Amino acid sequence: MIHISNLHKSYETGETTREVLTSVDLEIEEGEFVAIVGTSGSGKTTLLNIMGGLDRDYDGRVVVDDCDLAEFDESGIAELRNETFGFVFQQFNLLDHLTVRENVALPGFFTERDRQRELPDDEISPEELLHRVGLGDYLEQSPSTLSGGERQRVAIARALYGRPSNLLCDEPTGSLDHGTGLQIMELFQQLNREQSITLIVVTHEEHIARMARRIVRLEEGRIVADEPNDPVEPEASSLVATAGDAPDAEEETT
Ligand SMILES: Nc1ncnc2c1ncn2[C@@H]1O[C@H](COP(=O)(O)OP(=O)(O)OP(=O)(O)O)[C@@H](O)[C@H]1O
Ligand SMILES: [Mg+2]
Repeated sequence: MIHISNLHKSYETGETTREVLTSVDLEIEEGEFVAIVGTSGSGKTTLLNIMGGLDRDYDGRVVVDDCDLAEFDESGIAELRNETFGFVFQQFNLLDHLTVRENVALPGFFTERDRQRELPDDEISPEELLHRVGLGDYLEQSPSTLSGGERQRVAIARALYGRPSNLLCDEPTGSLDHGTGLQIMELFQQLNREQSITLIVVTHEEHIARMARRIVRLEEGRIVADEPNDPVEPEASSLVATAGDAPDAEEETT
């Protein structure tokens, strides 16, 4: 869970100080699916970076899984980030000189020695994750040969590789067309439903936000609305195959 109380954030540029987040209170419990919306400059990215421990220059309290982020040193916060958060950004941030599989395996599974180590029983391999996001046939290709939606799915598989309990996504559909953006959100809905991953998705697109179960609205650094939402959910998405499921192992119909 993420509990933020009385958060203030200012940037100093030259001689002026500008407050970009003001008195933000926000509680996100495990398993929620939250969209954070607001116009450009309203503070969405700033808020996401603070809750993910990427930016710790703020006033107020940010508590993640009972740990106050202010109490960690740099290596402690890096460890918490790796264990707790997966990040997905608008621009994918994939490395084209590596294969799709290697991109997912970054950083933990990259050396030859790592590749040969035995996976613990509950560890999901990069290959498995790529199958789950529907990219099992693309393992050895370069991301440069994939479409935008496919690249974003590689980025999502990579973010999931550390088995994060929270996936923080900053405009994950921002560079995708309408339909592909909705498909990515359906994938998020499925991950949220089936694996109880907490999802926090920053977007300025209303149709994307309406796929979440809660919508938090920021205006000029303040939360002006925070409401449950009844999302549009497809009955069954073909985007994600559940691990080990044979095609005929579908849920029983009564
Ligand atoms: N490093 C920085 N230095 C100074 N000001 C900054 C910095 N980063 C962001 N800001 C300012 O803080 C405000 C909030 O920025 P933020 O990136 O959080 O907005 P956003 O809601 O994510 O916008 P967008 O939808 O355009 O991505 C903006 O006015 C921005 O100019
Ligand atoms: Mg932003």
